[in-house]
Parts: sequence; structure tokens; C-alpha cells
Amino acid sequence: MPADSILKHAFMLCLVLSIALSSAHAEPDYLNKSTAESTSFRNGMVVSEEQIATLVGLSVLKEGGNAVDAAVAVGFALAVTHPRAGNLGGGGFMLVHLSKTGRTVAIDYREKAPLKATRNMFLDENGKVDTERARHSIYSCGVPGTVAGLSLALEKYGTMPLEKVLAPAIRLAEEGFAVTPELRKSLLKAKGRLKKSGESMEIFFKNNGEPPREGEILRQKNLAWSLKEISKNGPGAFYRGTIAKKITAYMKKEGGLITEQDLTSYEALIREPVTGSYRGYSIHSMPPPSSGGVHLIQMLNILERYPLSQYGHNSARYIHILSETMKLAYADRSKHLGDPDFSPVPTAHLVSKQYAKRLANRVNPQKATPSIYVKPGSPPPAGGTDTTHFTVADRFGNVVSNTYTLNFAYGSGLAVAGTGILLNNEMDDFSAKPATPNAYGLIGGEKNSIAPGKRMLSSMTPTIVFNGEEFLLATGGRGGSRIITSVLQVILNVIDHKMSIREATSAPRIHHQWLPDTLYVERETGKDLEARLREKGYEVKRTGPMESAQSVAKTEGLFLGAADPRHPGGLAQGY
Ligand code: DON
Repeated sequence: MPADSILKHAFMLCLVLSIALSSAHAEPDYLNKSTAESTSFRNGMVVSEEQIATLVGLSVLKEGGNAVDAAVAVGFALAVTHPRAGNLGGGGFMLVHLSKTGRTVAIDYREKAPLKATRNMFLDENGKVDTERARHSIYSCGVPGTVAGLSLALEKYGTMPLEKVLAPAIRLAEEGFAVTPELRKSLLKAKGRLKKSGESMEIFFKNNGEPPREGEILRQKNLAWSLKEISKNGPGAFYRGTIAKKITAYMKKEGGLITEQDLTSYEALIREPVTGSYRGYSIHSMPPPSSGGVHLIQMLNILERYPLSQYGHNSARYIHILSETMKLAYADRSKHLGDPDFSPVPTAHLVSKQYAKRLANRVNPQKATPSIYVKPGSPPPAGGTDTTHFTVADRFGNVVSNTYTLNFAYGSGLAVAGTGILLNNEMDDFSAKPATPNAYGLIGGEKNSIAPGKRMLSSMTPTIVFNGEEFLLATGGRGGSRIITSVLQVILNVIDHKMSIREATSAPRIHHQWLPDTLYVERETGKDLEARLREKGYEVKRTGPMESAQSVAKTEGLFLGAADPRHPGGLAQGY
């Protein structure tokens, strides 16, 4: 390792030690852990896409906090250290398993359409979707849910006060942290969009228009102010107080739709997870307004009917059965899924074993069934960098599986003046027009049309799997439409192919979403497999690394963590 890189690592670890919640004891093994070689741990495990945030979560666990305390601290820390997806101005979903009651609950803190939003707000005068307006303008911002969601999780299921779990994030924003190569790279990539916002430029770029170099310290003064306001006054600061005032003033100035009423009426909700079983294991995942859990369980129900382990991992026959199954699920997604508070979603039907039996009859055992009956969508973009998942498990038996996002990297690119808070561009997850694909190539219909106060459909799939009463694994990931299929494959890899969680996470993945009628396979799967899949009738597209998943598993009383190696910067760490 070059000397400057050693220094940077040392700086980062010292900083994390210094922000540990109280008198941190410098344990030598703590200092020596690197991303590559985390092993099994007995007391707890944190996995996130950014190293400092993982270490913040770990310090909370070591302080005696539970998985929820640690997860909330990680959520706020990522808003500082992983700003392309960690956020205060976005939304997400958290699954919490509580050891005391044996219950698992789902916290829905998805963004909502502003009350002034209208069904056709993204159509131009010719009735075509204006993607610039839907994805990159002030109208792309949904009413943020993150601050409400993390605070609700802590209040209901945590043990520490908000000030305590916010302290590391405040310190990281105020005193800064060393910029990683990944952060610099992502800022360079997003500069075109961030340029539209004075506040974004002020946060992330120097006067000469350059992002900070690797190792330079990034301080976020305005974000520190916002975090301190939340620490002092609770989530009310964001929805009714000083931050709310700045958000509404910004919206007024820029002609945006979010009003005081949108903020005061926003609520994070506690929902029942969607549940199912797969080869005797029980699956708990996110219910609507995410489509993730419903389609994960629907696909597992179909796949349970096939002896997948006999087919062999990533054999042509195996990939064929997976692809046929994926197509059926994504076709249903386009028609049946949306915000259940606006129109009923037939969840029970979609996740039933009987329905899976009927669907399995439509699987052609030999050849690809063409997705020709609906106009194909445009291809989804390559593996995204824009959502982020983290998983925390503690020694008390509690588990948190959380995915949150701004949608694209840095969301809309717009940051609220004076707050350091980037705003999401989640409104593009609605179906702006029937049969017209969104940024992920996903088609939607009436159930996911825009309406005031409605939550846009998501693919985020935070999931926890149990073997009887015993925790088996928790996972989730990023990558838009590909999230559901990646969570599916991590689970299949563990249950059917008996892989460790680390092998299961890194094994090459495939993806099919019905429309476009294309089978995406990661390059590592090899050329001859591609030829065999073409013989079966697939249009195959070989891709680079797809999305990433962050997981924790427990075997024989020990936690094993896996930060997805596809994208550098993550860390699985236990103690
Ligand atoms: O909620 C959803 O399904 C999308 N907004 C997720 C976006 C995403 O995963 C982007 N990044 N990789």
C-alpha cells in the first residue's frame, strides 16, 4: 500500500475512533481490519457501502446500543459520507426484526408526491413524457421521508436518544472526512447535474469547479447545521421548524411544488411485512408501496417447484428457469403494484402458492417465452450507484435491513439553500404515462400513476430470512429494477447452492424484467453460456458488474458479513 494511502486510512480510522460515542478504547484488531478480510463475529455485525458509516454503526453496538440504534446512526452517517445515496432529502424502507417479541415490522418512509402534483405533470404539449422534467427538475422531488423514518425507528425500537446517534454524523459533517476515490469519481460523474444548484456546487466543488482530491477533507457546514437542528428539536425541525422553512422558501424561489402542508402532513408508517416461505425457510420483506417483497416471494414460490440445485448454479437451464420466472413477476408488477393507500394491491393473491402453481404452468421448460405482447421498454441503465442498503445485526437477536435512496446518484442534483440537503428525484418512479418506461425501463399503469400525496412504487427489497425461529440472513441492495432479482439470487445461492453469504454475494448474477425482452448476464458467466442461452431463444446482453447487495448471515452462532465486492468502498465489520 503506498504511503499516502496508509496515511489516509490511518486518518479515517482515527477519526472514527474519535467519534465513537463515548470513551472509545482503541483495540488493535479494530484498527487492523480491512474491507477484504472480515471474518465471523459473535456480538454483532454492520455492513454498509461506506467504511466510516460501518464503523460508526459498530461503535454504537459496542456502546451497548441495539441494531436499531446502530442502523439509525449509520443512516445519518451515510447522509454525510456517502452523499450520492445516503440522505436526509430522500426516502426508503426499513425492516426491523425484534428479538423480544419475535416480530418483524416494516417501516415505510418512502417519499410522497406533493399535494400540488398532477397526473400528467411530466407530459409535454404533445403528450410525451418530458424526462428532463421528471428526472432532473425541481418537479422531480418527492416529499422526503428519511428524517421521519429514521426517527420513528429509533423512537419505537431503539434504546438511545436521537442526539446520541446523530453525534457521529454531526461531527463528520462539521470536522469533515477524507474524500475517497469513489466519492471523487462519483462527483465528477454527477457534476453536470449538480452544476444547476448553487448549494450543491458549494458543498461538493471547490472555487475552480473541481471536486476535492482523494484524501482532501470534505466539510459540510450547512449539513452539520441541519443535523444539529434535528438533534436539538427532533424530526419536527425538518417537517415544521427551521429546516422546513428553508425547504419551503427554496421551493417558492425555484417554483417547486413542495409546501408547508406537504411537510407537516408527512408521516412515516409502520406496515406489516410481506411474508412467505421457501423450501421451509421463512421470508420477510418489504410490502407495497415497494414491489420488492411481493415479487421476491412470488418468484421464490415459482422457483420452489424446480430442483434448482440439481441444475447447477448459473447453468443455462438454471438461468432459463430464473428468467422465465422473472418475466412473469415483472409483468405483474406493471399492472398490479402501486401505493396500497390509493388503490388495493392484490398482495395475498400474488404471493400465494396457488397462484405460483398457475404461473409455473406458463414457464416453457425449454425455450424463452418472448415478451411480445406489450411494447418493449428501453433498456435499464447499467448497475446504478444511487441507492444504498445497510444491514445490522446485534447480539440481542435484533436485525435491521434498510434500503434508502435519492433515486439517481445525488438525486435531482438540487440542494436546498442553506441546509446542505440534497433533494431526491423520486417522482420518476411513478408511471408518468402508461406503457412508457421510467429510467429503469419499468412500465407501469393506473396503479402507479401520479396523484397528490401518493407514494411512488419502488423496487427496494430489504429482506430478512429465518430458519424456523433462527435468523438465517438479511440482505438488500441497490440497482433500480435489478434490486429484486439480486436479492432473489443471494437467497437462492445460500439456500439452494449452499454458498456462504460472501460467495452468494459475489457470484455472477443475471437479470430479466420482462420488458425489455433482454436477458442481462454479468460478464464473468462466460461466452459459451451465452451461446447456450441464445439457443434457448434469449437476446443476451453481457454487462459489467450489476448492482450491489449488502448482507449479514448467521451460522452456528456467528455473524458473517458481506459487502458486495462489485463496487469498492463498502465494509462488513463485526466484533
Ligand atoms: O425505489 C426505487 O425502486 C428506485 N428509486 C431505486 C433507485 C436505485 O436503486 C438506483 N440505484 N442504484
